[in-house]
Amino acid sequence: MCGIVGVLGRNEVAPIIVEALKRLEYRGYDSAGLATVNDGTLDRRRAVGKLVNLSDHLVHHPLAGKSGIGHTRWATHGAPSVANAHPHQAGPVAVVHNGIIENFRTLREELTAEGHEFQSDTDTETIAQLTCKHLAEGHDPREAARLTLGRLEGAFAVAFLFRGENDLMIAARKGSPLAIGHGEGEVFIGSDAIALAPMTNRITYLEEGDRAVLTRGSVEIFDAEDRPATREARTLTADQTRVEKGGHKHWMAKEIAEQPVVLADAMAHYLTADTFDFPPELPDFKEIDRIVMVACGTAFYACLTAKYWFEQLARLPVEVDVASEFRYREPPIGPRTLAIFVSQSGETADTLAALRYCRDKAAIVSVVNVPESSIARESDVALPILAGVEIGVASTKAFTCQLTVLAMLALRAAQDRGTLEAPALAAHVADLRALPAQISQALGAEDRIAAIARRLAEAQDILFLGRGAMFPLAMEGALKLKEISYIHAEGYASGELKHGPIALIDKHVPVIVLAPRDGLFDKTVSNMQEVMARNGKVVLISDSAGAAEAGAGTWEVLTMPRVAPVFAAILYAIPAQLLAYHTAIAKGTDVDQPRNLAKSVTVE
Ligand code: F6R
Repeated sequence: MCGIVGVLGRNEVAPIIVEALKRLEYRGYDSAGLATVNDGTLDRRRAVGKLVNLSDHLVHHPLAGKSGIGHTRWATHGAPSVANAHPHQAGPVAVVHNGIIENFRTLREELTAEGHEFQSDTDTETIAQLTCKHLAEGHDPREAARLTLGRLEGAFAVAFLFRGENDLMIAARKGSPLAIGHGEGEVFIGSDAIALAPMTNRITYLEEGDRAVLTRGSVEIFDAEDRPATREARTLTADQTRVEKGGHKHWMAKEIAEQPVVLADAMAHYLTADTFDFPPELPDFKEIDRIVMVACGTAFYACLTAKYWFEQLARLPVEVDVASEFRYREPPIGPRTLAIFVSQSGETADTLAALRYCRDKAAIVSVVNVPESSIARESDVALPILAGVEIGVASTKAFTCQLTVLAMLALRAAQDRGTLEAPALAAHVADLRALPAQISQALGAEDRIAAIARRLAEAQDILFLGRGAMFPLAMEGALKLKEISYIHAEGYASGELKHGPIALIDKHVPVIVLAPRDGLFDKTVSNMQEVMARNGKVVLISDSAGAAEAGAGTWEVLTMPRVAPVFAAILYAIPAQLLAYHTAIAKGTDVDQPRNLAKSVTVE
């Protein structure tokens, strides 16, 4: 949610900042802006909408300077407008901010009463105004920023730039990630290391509560208690920061296509020739009586799917909750509970808060894509999903990698608890290992899926149905479709349709039925017949046996490779993703940057 960048450079920084913001645009694209200090003069440029508008604005109104900060915004307080775009400036200080200042109303009232005039509706401007006040009181910029940070409540990553200070930038993090990049005689900050990759691969991650005072020749870090702190600088590999579309038209298309490879990588990480290779700190599942799984959005659907695996394979009861509900419900967490948090970004504010609620109550395992993220760092055991950088706002490869890691974890639980004999365990592992090849085969159906999607693009409402582990996938398929094509879609458990939603069915409503030929197939087909009897347009997604048995009379049939029923949801995610992608293409929507969304949700 919002991306921030800062540079104390050797060359003009405006083009460098715009380039870095491009790499952060997945975090928000409601407006963008930058401020520089040039020979002591602080100035800024801002534009509403995507970054390209800022670039165009800079062509006619260039901004000189070798020190600067930049921002790409996902609006929280105040509509997307130039006045609300960052950087926010108050007198001699400019600020960019990611997160939310929860006590901004109190601060704003206090400052307004003292005569400060606010130019925007944002919470961020209180940071600039408060710092301006401290400067006017005679504090130097370092002290003014320190005093301001001490008054802020909420979650933030923030950077300050000061008039008259060509060689000073102050940055701080509390709840939102911030990386410092080290160059030769220059220094950078960014919401993630990927933004800084063209400039440097030597990165220091700030920790919770850290404040950094940066000049071209020095990096001083102070911890939450204001003590000088040392934070390790690491060198990232090209793989950790590579972001290229590789010939694909969209990030989402690239990320869908990568799934056979990244799934195989995830398996290679956790499976040896004859057993599992999880970190030794992972609790023994014999000592666990109950699992609580918490996440948001797509990661939540991954948890709901994994519930089937933990319960069926390891006979462990699982509760799954969305983080925004879990954290405020204050559920009792008994001993012998394992809490699992799943998050692509590892920075989702609600998931992180839910994790903190469980601290000291349960063992905490996270399943994350970003290993340096807050959720990973605050877990007892962090299990990376190894999906590689995911840029498309609609999560695809991270979802199937989350499922794959959770499936291996469920098998490991079954092994610990002795609920599966060795041959059954080995057979399940072999089924998992077969998935990358089956996914490659499923990807081969893309043209056929695109043709179906062109028909779906006409619809106002679309339903997805599934049973067992196909039910969470039905919800995930519906989420994917609505977020990028803006068509209203819902996922239902097949057996639940007749309890209400069937009233929605008429000849205008396509119903996508996810039904591999498994033990529940006949039941699902009965529900599908109920839809067809009411003129619903059924798209049946099944294997060749299922298609032959139940394809007659449907609107469309899509045939998938045969797959082990227990892990079929991983394979059937592919047609769900491709249907959403091609429907969005047919509708001409912005696939990678759908309206109102951002990739990393670091606000509540
Ligand atoms: C949907 C999507 C979101 C995220 C959700 C959680 O395609 O990407 O629903 O899954 O915002 O994000 P993470 O996994 O980063 O915690």
